[in-house]
Amino acid sequence: MNTVRISLSLLSVIAVSEAIYKRWIPNTNFENASNWNEQRVPCAQDTAMFSKDQRVSVFIQSPHRLTNLYMPWDGEFILSHGATLMAASRDDPECGPGISVNFHDADRYQWFDPKLWNSALSIDDFEMGRLLFSVDAERVPCQFDDVIFSPETSFRVQLKETQSDVQLRSISVLGQKFTTNEDFSQYLKSPTGKLQFPGPAQPQITNSRCQESTGCLCGNDGMLQEVCSALLQDNGNKCPEVTCANPVQPVGHCCGICGVIISLEYSSAFNLDTYRSRLLHMFLSLEKYSSVKLAISKVKFSSSLSVFRLGEDLKIQIVLIDGKEGSLAGSDALQLGYDIMADTETHGDSFGITKAEMQFASGGVTSPHKGSMSAGAISGIVIGTLLGLSLMGAAYFLYRMDLCRLPYSEFFSSWRIGSRLEDTVSVDHAGFENPIFEPAAENDQASDTGEGNLKEVTLQQSGFQFTNPVFDSNFDV
Ligand SMILES: *[C@@H]1O[C@H](CO)[C@@H](O)[C@H](O)[C@H]1NC(C)=O
Repeated sequence: MNTVRISLSLLSVIAVSEAIYKRWIPNTNFENASNWNEQRVPCAQDTAMFSKDQRVSVFIQSPHRLTNLYMPWDGEFILSHGATLMAASRDDPECGPGISVNFHDADRYQWFDPKLWNSALSIDDFEMGRLLFSVDAERVPCQFDDVIFSPETSFRVQLKETQSDVQLRSISVLGQKFTTNEDFSQYLKSPTGKLQFPGPAQPQITNSRCQESTGCLCGNDGMLQEVCSALLQDNGNKCPEVTCANPVQPVGHCCGICGVIISLEYSSAFNLDTYRSRLLHMFLSLEKYSSVKLAISKVKFSSSLSVFRLGEDLKIQIVLIDGKEGSLAGSDALQLGYDIMADTETHGDSFGITKAEMQFASGGVTSPHKGSMSAGAISGIVIGTLLGLSLMGAAYFLYRMDLCRLPYSEFFSSWRIGSRLEDTVSVDHAGFENPIFEPAAENDQASDTGEGNLKEVTLQQSGFQFTNPVFDSNFDV
C-alpha cells in the first residue's frame, strides 16, 4: 500500500512542467514620471490633475507636497507606509514656477498586448534580467502560467472578451497570491479590484499545472488576433519591414522574421524543461550568440513542412532571431540553427527527439526587387531526419527527385518547370547546395538574372527545399 502511494506521488512529481511567470510591466504609480504628461512627478508649486472621470487606482510610495490636487470621482490612492499628500506650505526652490501636471489616461493598457509582459522561469530571474523570449501569442499569459502584478504597484488592465476564456494557474496582485477562482472573483468585486480589472472579461484561476513533461500548449491560439492587433496598433496594424527576402512565419507569431524555425518531433522521453536548459546553457550562453534570442514551446502546426505528414501536428517549435541588421539579419540565428541541428543529429536520441526540421530566412536584399527576390542563399528548409532508414529508404529517392530537382534529373526538372527552365537551371543547382557556404555568390547570381528571370526564380521558391549535407550521411543508400 505504502509503496504504491510512494511511486504514485513520485510520478506526479515528475510528470509536470516548470511553471512560467509572466509579469505585467506598466504601472499607475504616483512616483512613476512616465505617468505624468510633463514626464516628471508634480512638486510643491504644481497642481496635480486627475480628470474627474478617470477611473484609476494610484499607489503612492513617499510623501508629496502639492499646491493643488484634483482628484477623480471614482478612483483611489493607496498610500504605502510613510506616504502622504500634503498642501505645500512653502516653495520648493527646485520646483520651478508651478504648473498643472496631468496624470495620463490609464485605460490604454490591454491585457493582450505582448509588449506589456515579461516572462521568466522564476521570480528571481526578473530581478536578474534573465527574461525568456517567446512567440507573440505566448508573451501574454498562457493557461498554466503564474501571473504577477508587482507588489507595491497599482495598475489598470483592460481585458476584452474573446472566443475562449483567459485561464491562468495563479495571479498575484499587490503582494497577494490568488490560487482559486472563488477568491479572485471575490477580490474583483472589491473597489480596488474593480479599478484594476475593469473587464469586461475576467481571467479564470485554475491552480493547475502542465502535467506533460514534453510540454503543454500555451492555449492562446484563439486570441492571436487580439494579440496581434494590440502589438501592431501603433504601427498602423502593419508588420515592420524586414530586410530578408522571404521571412519565415513561426506558429503563434504575428509577423514573419529573418531567422530560424526548427520544429522537432518527439517521443514521450522528451522533456521540454531539460531540453530548454540544455539549449540555454550550451548555446545561448556563448559569446558569439549573445545577440540571439531563442523561444521554445510546444505548438500546433496546422500544415506540416514535412512531405510525409500533413494535417495538424503537435511539435516543439524553436524560434531563433538575432540583433543583426540589414544584410546580416538572421545570420547569427542561422549559425545557431545549424549548431542545434547538428546537436539533434548526435544527441537527439537521448533527448527523445525523433525528427528535426529547420526553416530559415536571412541575408540582405541585394536586388531592387524588394521582397519578391528569392534565391537559395536567403531562405530554405533543412531537413534532418533521425528516423530509421527502413522508413526512409524508398521514400528518399522520390523525395530527392521530386523536391530537390537535382541537376541530373533533367527529365523531372523540365517536366515540372517547362520551357522556362533553361535560364534558371544554374540557380536551381546552386540552391541545392548549403547556402551557408556561398551566400554572396548566390545573391549576385540572383540579382544578375534581371527582372524577367527573377520572376522565374520566385516561382520555384515555393517548392524550394534542399538537404543539408551534414545530414546526408544518414541516407547513404
Ligand atoms: C513607469 O510606467 C511605465 C508605463 O506604465 C512603465 O513602462 C515603466 O516600467 C514604469 N517605470 C517604473 C520605474 O516603474
